Amino acid sequence: MTRHFLTLNDLKAHELQALIVRACELKKEYQEKRMQQTRPGRVLAMIFEKSSTRTRVSFEAAIGQLGGHGIFLSPDDTQLGRGEPVEDTARVLAKMVDCVMLRTFEHEKLERYAAYSDIPVINGLSDTFHPCQLLADMQTYYELRGAIRGRKVTWLGDGNNMCHSYINAASMLDFNLTVACPQNYCPDPGIMSGAAGNVDIVSDPERAIADAALVVTDVWASMGQEQEAAERLAVFRPFQVNADLMKLAADDALFMHCLPAHRDEEVTAEVIDGAQSVVWEEAGNRLHSQKALLEFLL
Ligand code: CP
Ligand code: NVA
Repeated sequence: MTRHFLTLNDLKAHELQALIVRACELKKEYQEKRMQQTRPGRVLAMIFEKSSTRTRVSFEAAIGQLGGHGIFLSPDDTQLGRGEPVEDTARVLAKMVDCVMLRTFEHEKLERYAAYSDIPVINGLSDTFHPCQLLADMQTYYELRGAIRGRKVTWLGDGNNMCHSYINAASMLDFNLTVACPQNYCPDPGIMSGAAGNVDIVSDPERAIADAALVVTDVWASMGQEQEAAERLAVFRPFQVNADLMKLAADDALFMHCLPAHRDEEVTAEVIDGAQSVVWEEAGNRLHSQKALLEFLL
C-alpha cells in the first residue's frame, strides 16, 4: 500500500514521534556538515497552485540534500492549468518520479490525486490542512521544551487549515488545545470531533491563553480569502496576539506562527520579534522535518 501524507492522521502516533526525533538528528547532521545522501537519485515533483516561499524552498533543498532532485511545477506552465484532470496527471507523474507534493485549494482535489497515485503524495497545504507545518512546529517545541504531552497549547484567531492540523496534532500527541476564535470562524466540527477530549473552543482570548505553554496564531485571511480581508480585519481584532495577552500565558511560553505574518494584525511586531517568539527556528525546521518525512515515504 502506498503511504500518503495528506493529513497528520495518515501517520500513527508512534510514527509521528519517530519523525520528530529523526528530524532533530538530521538537523544536527546538517549543522555539523555531515549530511548523508540517504535517498540518492529519488525525484520529488512539487505542484504549487498557490504561492509559497518556505514550503517550496524547504522541499527542494530537502530532496537535494538527500541526494535526489526536485521539480517545481506550476499550473501556469503545465497542462494542469489548461484543464488536464488531476487523475491523469497523477498516473503520468507516477511513471516518472518517486514522490509528489501538491499545494492546492480544495482538500478533496488532493484526495482525488492520491487515489490515482501509486507513489506517495504529500499535502503541501490545502484549504483544510497544513500537516507539513505541524511537523516543524512539533519538532520546534520538542527541541526547546521537551514532550508536549499534557501541555496547554492556545490557538488564537481563524479556525483555518493550520488550526485543523493543530487539532489533529493535539489528539495524536495528547496535548490540550484551546482554540479562541470569533463566532462563524471556528474550526470544522467534524475535524474537532476526531480530537474530542483534547480540544476546546472558547470565545474569550484572555481565558484561552491563561497559563499556555505554547501560543500560536496565523493570518486572518488565508490564500484564496483575499477579498474577505477587510471584513476579517474588524472581526478578528480582539484575537490579536500582543504583549498584554502574552503576559497571561506561562512565563516560559513560546510563540509560533507558520509565516508569512502580518505584523500588527494577528500579532504585534513586539511579540513576533520578541524573546518568546521562535518563528525563525520553526521556519528552519521545515527543512529538517520534511527530510525526515521524505525518508519515511521513500
Ligand atoms: N508556512 C508556509 O507554508 O509558508 P509558505 O507559504 O511560504 O510555504
Ligand atoms: N493559513 C495560511 C497559511 C499559509 C502558510 C494560508 O492558507 O494562506
